[in-house]
Amino acid sequence: MKFAYADPPYLGLAKKTYGDVHPQAAEYDDPETHRVLIERLCNEYPDGWAMSCHTPSLRTILTLGPADVRVAAWCKPWAPFRPGVKTAHFAWEPIIYRGGRPFSERLHAHRDYTVTPMRLGKSRDSFGRGSKPVGLIQWILRDLLNANRDDEVDDLFPGSGGVAEAIRLWREQETLFEVPA
Ligand SMILES: C[S@@+](CC[C@H](N)C(=O)[O-])C[C@H]1O[C@@H](n2cnc3c(N)ncnc32)[C@H](O)[C@@H]1O
Repeated sequence: MKFAYADPPYLGLAKKTYGDVHPQAAEYDDPETHRVLIERLCNEYPDGWAMSCHTPSLRTILTLGPADVRVAAWCKPWAPFRPGVKTAHFAWEPIIYRGGRPFSERLHAHRDYTVTPMRLGKSRDSFGRGSKPVGLIQWILRDLLNANRDDEVDDLFPGSGGVAEAIRLWREQETLFEVPA
């Protein structure tokens, strides 16, 4: 099977966050760019795909693609608790996903949420802006897409290269047992 993970600049934050490092960053402040991305994911990755966004853009992003996606949650034990926020802090991020290998176990415990710490460093550039933690990527592969270690997994927005590294580490992991198909 062939899967993809897309971690584009978030709608409304693209130029602000990546304008100085990517000349076309502002394109991702236009919903049309996200629509084209989702169309590509559906066409090129019928086996399954996952995509990150942030909660303020979730409503818009969901209107741009098919109805049969699911929304899973990356919950952060610690998040940037910004001063002056008068509502609950933004401490989780949606992971929109579609497809995936059906689970063969009659009873399984794969969940549509993860509680995984953000990557933290001295500055937001320490690991690359918006870089995603290893545990998050491995949860997407294991619990959402049910990928096998010999499946192809494309990382459409490599950034720091952290996703590729998470995939490499996941491929090397020992499994305690394999459930027969
Ligand atoms: C959320 S970050 C991806 C971070 C990556 N997943 C990681 O773990 O390091 C989004 C990436 O998209 C890149 N980017 C910005 N504008 C882009 C564009 N128009 N086309 C493709 N990539 C773009 C940014 O430079 C950044 O590396």
